[in-house]
Amino acid sequence: MSSYIIEGGQKLEGLVKISGSKNSSLPIIAATILNAGKTTLYNVPHIQDTQMMYKILETLGAKIEKKNGKIKIDTSKIEKFEIPPDLMNKMRSSVILAGALLGRYKKAIFSYPGGCDIGSRPIDLHLKSFEKLGIQVNQNHGNIECNAEKIQGEKIDLDFPSVGATENAILASVLAEGTTIITNAAREPEIIDLQNFLNKMGAKITGAGTDEIQIIGVKRLKDISYNIMPDRIEAGSFLCFAAATKGNIILEDVNATHITPIINKLEEAECKIEINKNKIKIIAPKKLKAIDIKTMPYPGFPTDMQSVFASMLTTAKGTSIIVENIFENRYKYAQELNKMGAKITVEGKSAVIRGTRKLYGADGYGRWRRLYSRWIWWGRREYRSCCGWDRQRWNWVCGDRRRIRLGGVKHLAVNKKIPMRKCVGCGEMKPKKELIRILRTEEEFLVDVTGKKNGRGAYLCPCKACFDLSVKS
Ligand code: UD1
Repeated sequence: MSSYIIEGGQKLEGLVKISGSKNSSLPIIAATILNAGKTTLYNVPHIQDTQMMYKILETLGAKIEKKNGKIKIDTSKIEKFEIPPDLMNKMRSSVILAGALLGRYKKAIFSYPGGCDIGSRPIDLHLKSFEKLGIQVNQNHGNIECNAEKIQGEKIDLDFPSVGATENAILASVLAEGTTIITNAAREPEIIDLQNFLNKMGAKITGAGTDEIQIIGVKRLKDISYNIMPDRIEAGSFLCFAAATKGNIILEDVNATHITPIINKLEEAECKIEINKNKIKIIAPKKLKAIDIKTMPYPGFPTDMQSVFASMLTTAKGTSIIVENIFENRYKYAQELNKMGAKITVEGKSAVIRGTRKLYGADGYGRWRRLYSRWIWWGRREYRSCCGWDRQRWNWVCGDRRRIRLGGVKHLAVNKKIPMRKCVGCGEMKPKKELIRILRTEEEFLVDVTGKKNGRGAYLCPCKACFDLSVKS
């Protein structure tokens, strides 16, 4: 676990270059399996999920070279079709590998994928799409075995425009016989990026970005190099960081058309936005206006931006209402923001945010990595620590030096691991340097809050209550 200490209350000002899209990179890395050869990728973000994807590919037999931001993937010698459950468990996107393995080898063995704790996240639509293509799907105690004699193009009508199910159906159909038509397909820009990548490889796909995608099966694909599109969620997050801190920043290498709903909402909150080719400038108002948000599949407002906007709106003027329509469990951050003085009430799919003048420092526990990646920014003046931060999944979560270049951020210890220890008095995790180390002999000991005996090596808060405890024991 990593811990970070952040001094908030600083304006964000400066220029930031947006990195490659995580949600585009993951299916494209999986799609390299379809070509029995070498693929070179540029602009892949260096984050835990992409590293995990490389690890799974290597386990299957691929060779991966990473050099100066260039990723070379050689999938000519893949000889395994089973994704180990321990790796499958690490992230949701591992399920996309099934479509690619099926496309090339007509077999894949995998288990239910892991991922962020934001809802039940079933994969029934993925499996139904495979079955439509003539693939046999056998489930046994959570293990899923897929096999096909041949994959035959078919009409797949998705019950919901699931991003992952659309990507899996495309991957399984690229080398199929005949034509596949996916209706009610997801329309996210990442689907267009996947189509562009596969077509450059020699696939015949049309319609990505609309709700009907057509894939004419081809016999083989070829080696290519490809540049991943910019991350629209990262771009939107930086805009919100600037808006929340009354700052003004310029984003570079961003596609403004991908973030239209985000820009519209920021303008509604009275931010000034200027777009110039691949650059976006935001100037925040003195006080943000409260707004209402409903998350929807693209081109609606993205669910991945919901928590970022919620954090930003905690200090807006008036009351904002958020309705989360995609995932059922995406408000876990609210209780942590409330610790910092936010006024968020959650009721089912809705959250009501009553704007408050400012937030203050508090200790927080960031178990829900996507959500907490965001409130690292929202501090006001006081020193605070956040413990339990998960390792970086998203590029902007931590270890992101670009933030430092945005002027005004003082003492943002995002790149530093702060050693944390538990105070045996109150039981809370605190920065080690703030605690007093207890030096006692084996015979003398301190009984902590859990009843455990602590001697030499235990730590105590300097606060009166905890200190008194040490004197008494
Ligand atoms: C992708 C994104 C994620 C984003 C989400 C929604 C990636 C790597 N992740 O996730 O960041 O939050 O889209 O925009 O691209 N569903 C089913 N059955 C299925 C599949 C999905 O019921 O078989 C439901 C889900 O539970 C959820 C909804 O459909 O309620 C949307 O999920 P989906 O679009 O599939 O999201 P992901 O592809 O997992």
